[in-house]
Amino acid sequence: MQLPETQVAVLKAADAQTQRDITDIASEAGEKPESATRAAFELEDRGLLEVTERVEESVTLTEEGERYAEKGLPELALYEAAFDSGAADEQVSLGRLIGEAGLDGDAVDIALANFARKGYGQVDSGEVTVDSDADPDGDDELQALQTLAEGGAVADDDVLDRLDSRGLVERSERTVRAVSLTDDGVTAMMEGVEAAETVDRLTPEMLTSGEWENVEFTDYNVEAEASEIQPGRKHSLRQMADRVKDVLVGMGFQEMQGPTVDADFWINDCLFMPQDHPARTHWGRFAVENPEKIDHLPEDLVERVERAHREGVGEDGEGYHSPWDEDFARHLALRGHTTSLTSRHLAGEALGDLEPPQRFFSVEKAYRNDTLDATHLLEFFQIEGWVMAEELSVRDLFGTFTEFYEQFGITDIQFKPHYNPYTEPSFELFGRHPKTEELIEIGNSGIFRPEMLEPLGIEHDVMAWGLALERLMMLATGAEDIRDVHGTLVDLEYLRTEEVIY
Ligand code: PHE
Repeated sequence: MQLPETQVAVLKAADAQTQRDITDIASEAGEKPESATRAAFELEDRGLLEVTERVEESVTLTEEGERYAEKGLPELALYEAAFDSGAADEQVSLGRLIGEAGLDGDAVDIALANFARKGYGQVDSGEVTVDSDADPDGDDELQALQTLAEGGAVADDDVLDRLDSRGLVERSERTVRAVSLTDDGVTAMMEGVEAAETVDRLTPEMLTSGEWENVEFTDYNVEAEASEIQPGRKHSLRQMADRVKDVLVGMGFQEMQGPTVDADFWINDCLFMPQDHPARTHWGRFAVENPEKIDHLPEDLVERVERAHREGVGEDGEGYHSPWDEDFARHLALRGHTTSLTSRHLAGEALGDLEPPQRFFSVEKAYRNDTLDATHLLEFFQIEGWVMAEELSVRDLFGTFTEFYEQFGITDIQFKPHYNPYTEPSFELFGRHPKTEELIEIGNSGIFRPEMLEPLGIEHDVMAWGLALERLMMLATGAEDIRDVHGTLVDLEYLRTEEVIY
């Protein structure tokens, strides 16, 4: 029988009577463990080898575990100090014992918790007594730590669990594979196996020399187990952002671009947000210091925006009757919403004057000084969008959302009347979480009011929105906590294995 060289080497190193570990086979055959493993699976497919697997657990001491193995456990130090001070007969003050036992910092709490747990005695209102029946010499946790420190094995699962929960050991599992010859394998060996001249890859040399025509190529076993490779991949939230962009482009929208750090003028003033609005104070806003202010603002626009704030727009315009200061508007901050891109585009600052119909979007980060919780991070991706047309109504707005969310399988959007200084009417959007069944807020929207549009020079209707990408992701994937998806607490395993389903 002819077999590829590695398989012949593995077959020769295998035995019919004993199971031999692949690592031993590999070193005897002079092969890498991965190649030997692959060959073993191929031989198993041919019926010549049997591959068995077992899980081996290894236990290693953590740094803290090593320290205790050497110096003893804090609860035992407390026990000894207490015993020596006569706590078997009368109460002794804890304060005194802590000093005598040489305990400080975290070790005090650790000693107290485990002293009580192991029944070495009682601590009551700062007084310690020891239980004279206790047997600290036989402390199984200390003994296990010492055995492990000497390289020995501990079989008692219960003790290992306790050490694990104290963070004194780390347990890990690995799969060990062993092989033995099958009857067919023995027969094949007796009849004789020899290495076939096979090649496992095509090289440029083979192509130029023409040798490729004469060689036999190794078959690939695409089902063979191979070591896991973890290549770089796109973050699942980024994949979701890409998907949103595809959907919006499919709906006829164009992407907007603009600065992450921007002047308050574009972030707030152009949106008819009064300068004393609570969202504009220092709590909600991440100000920027260097530079502190924007260099350039279009003068005539500043004038029109100021007039709208002071006097309002139109004959019955009221305005805010509150101070408006250009210097204040020039201050820079991380944008708290991406509606700054919308105001730059509507004002003609980004792409020049725009005539209807127009549809624009962006999926970019916005920053808010919120309190961290399951649905809030200090930054989020906002799905900004707007449509300009001769005439628009709330039905157009709702219809656009229905169409958009349907493409993510979300068909039960709800709307709630809301207030924004720059839209009238305004609506918040809600969706039901597929797992918790809670209604969660997923966005904010409305039709821009004349006080915003007129100073920007827009004479048509504009409807607009800001939706949260993370919330959409929670509804579309069932994720329950934003911090599981994005941010420092995210599990690497999740990032490596999460499937984003289109
Ligand atoms: N800027 C709003 C927010 O961040 C979203 C919005 C944009 C609402 C445009 C209406 C119009 O919540």
